[in-house]
Amino acid sequence: MVQQAETEAAIPLTTPYRMGQLELSHRVVLAPMTRCRSYGNVPQPHAAVYYAQRATRGGVLISEGTGLSTTSQGFPEMPGVWTQEQVEAWKPIVDAVHRKGAFFFCQLGHVGRASTNEFQPDGQAPISSTDEQISPDAESGMVYSKPRRLRADEIPAVVEDFRRAARNAVEAGFDGVEIHGAHGMLLEQFMKDGANDRTDEYGGSLENRCRFAVEVIDAVVREVGAHRVGIKLSPFADDMDCEDSDPVALGHYMIQQLNKYEGFLYCHMVEPRMAIVEGHRQIPRGLLQFRKAFNGTFIVAGGYDREEGNKALGEHYADLIAYGRLFLANPDLPKRFDLDAPLNKYDRSTFYTQDPVVGYTDYRFLEDSNKNNQSSTQA
Ligand SMILES: Cc1cc2nc3c(=O)[nH]c(=O)nc-3n(C[C@H](O)[C@H](O)[C@H](O)COP(=O)(O)O)c2cc1C
Repeated sequence: MVQQAETEAAIPLTTPYRMGQLELSHRVVLAPMTRCRSYGNVPQPHAAVYYAQRATRGGVLISEGTGLSTTSQGFPEMPGVWTQEQVEAWKPIVDAVHRKGAFFFCQLGHVGRASTNEFQPDGQAPISSTDEQISPDAESGMVYSKPRRLRADEIPAVVEDFRRAARNAVEAGFDGVEIHGAHGMLLEQFMKDGANDRTDEYGGSLENRCRFAVEVIDAVVREVGAHRVGIKLSPFADDMDCEDSDPVALGHYMIQQLNKYEGFLYCHMVEPRMAIVEGHRQIPRGLLQFRKAFNGTFIVAGGYDREEGNKALGEHYADLIAYGRLFLANPDLPKRFDLDAPLNKYDRSTFYTQDPVVGYTDYRFLEDSNKNNQSSTQA
């Protein structure tokens, strides 16, 4: 009986799944990861290599957070999708992914106050829900600039930036877009009461705090169709000082909004912080209530490995699992999971560096590691 359960548990990550109109061949999704290698905010040819390496027939990739305006940047060399030059630069990258048979979603993000004056046009203050600065990060030494509180009458222009970016992403060939509503970025700065101290129609009640995100969702859905739109949310996280006093109510409110759109494609949610217990990753599994409430495809992320992913899928806790760091370091992650092969380790020091190869496209494939092992055995 136990034996049988174990055999079944190994299957789920590599089983097919239908997400809206898309026929997926497995459940291993590339999580969106900022890689800081799009010089001058223009995606580069090396991104085609990077993403194509991680593309498989019937797999899903989500792009790194991609900017939608000159104020949306907060990391060096982030790509954008607001100019025609950027759209043209994405086209061969999306093509390379499609040629491998994978589906590709563009994550549309605005960092809000998670930025500095240096990243902003004319050295202006980053925009946010508030004029409260993020507390300096002792670990990374990062000091974010004091933001400027957006006036309510400025918000429609930012909604319009999201809409145009979604249109552009589809023009570039992406299968859809993921609205970045997680990790302390601009939309979350409005959603969470720990970062929203407004008294206008965009602050105070849960409905008011979520208004901006809801307006963005509505504009993007109207522009490209609900079947092309997903969203990433992290109600339980506290990134960039974005914490909510009632994450359960926040998560449920947002799910209710998504459910209003027939065929809204997916909701991608981040687990409460994972723990390492006796050397094993332990996922807190705090998202079941949202999974049950949401009508579309539910993607979970945050600390998953092969075992935890299989378990979550086997127990119908999620439809798909997004893998970040493990996929970054293992371009052939779905294959490695299938074969239960050992994994490359990720190198944190090159996550956000600007080299077009090192820490980016030079992680080994299984065949290379095997060849290498054989030659080192022979030597
Ligand atoms: C280098 C790096 C960059 C990231 N950039 C983004 C991003 O642009 N957008 C986003 O929503 N999440 C981003 N994340 C978070 C990942 O999408 C994912 O949620 C997180 O890494 C947890 O998954 P994991 O434990 O499988 O790595 C990033 C993570 C890493 C490691």
